[in-house]
Amino acid sequence: AALAFGLDAPYDVEYHDRIGSTNDRARELAEEGVDDVVVVADEQTGGRGRLDREWAAPAGGVWASPVLRPERPPAEVPIYTLAAAVAVTRAAREVGVEATIKWPNDVLVNDGDGEERKLAGILTEMEGEADRVSWLVLGIGVNANVDRDALPPGATSLRAAVGDVDRRRFLQGILEALYDLTGADADLRAVLDAWREYASTLGRQVRVETPRGTVAGRAVDVRFPGSLVVGTDDGERAVHAGDCEHVRPT
Ligand code: BTN
Repeated sequence: AALAFGLDAPYDVEYHDRIGSTNDRARELAEEGVDDVVVVADEQTGGRGRLDREWAAPAGGVWASPVLRPERPPAEVPIYTLAAAVAVTRAAREVGVEATIKWPNDVLVNDGDGEERKLAGILTEMEGEADRVSWLVLGIGVNANVDRDALPPGATSLRAAVGDVDRRRFLQGILEALYDLTGADADLRAVLDAWREYASTLGRQVRVETPRGTVAGRAVDVRFPGSLVVGTDDGERAVHAGDCEHVRPT
């Protein structure tokens, strides 16, 4: 299958012209015990985003869900999500798009009109025991060769930024970077350095909606395995999960 897709990557490829969600199919394969596979589709009819949102996935995007089996505890999974965002950002920069990352894993592009728009997102799903992940699916969605008006407001595409790209090469770049960052020999803490380099969130005023309320302040750092450290009026708070908004200076 990898050859059929023409991808030379450390994963086998299961390619679909159209599918509901590559994450759903990847989860199925993971449950069946399939290893080192990435499910790829041209179009998704039921793409899923974070926080139970829909994810528009018209033909022409890079919709891909690698299955990983890291021999690590579930608590470390957030670092894999950050790594996926870093990998996408690297691939975008390779094609001349100055992408940045909004915590935890939204890949943004400044379209030149001062607006930061979303180019890509990651939906991580996993199953594990207390001390070890059994499988991990990193659902990677990049608005690649799609028109901006086929996407929700606030989203942009590689097409809008630099024109169409070779999606095989683009995906290969992502997967190679992901493998470098998270493969068995990788130092997972180094992911944070790469993330900091690309972050648009650090140093900004943010408002993070967390399951335990809103945290507002200045984003000062990211901490293993992926928490955002926010300087608030009551001191520093480490936020583990939530929806982050960059607040404009007024
Ligand atoms: C987000 O909300 O930012 C995450 C979006 C993740 C979308 C990708 S596209 C490939 C994979 N399959 C899905 O259904 N979702 C993810």
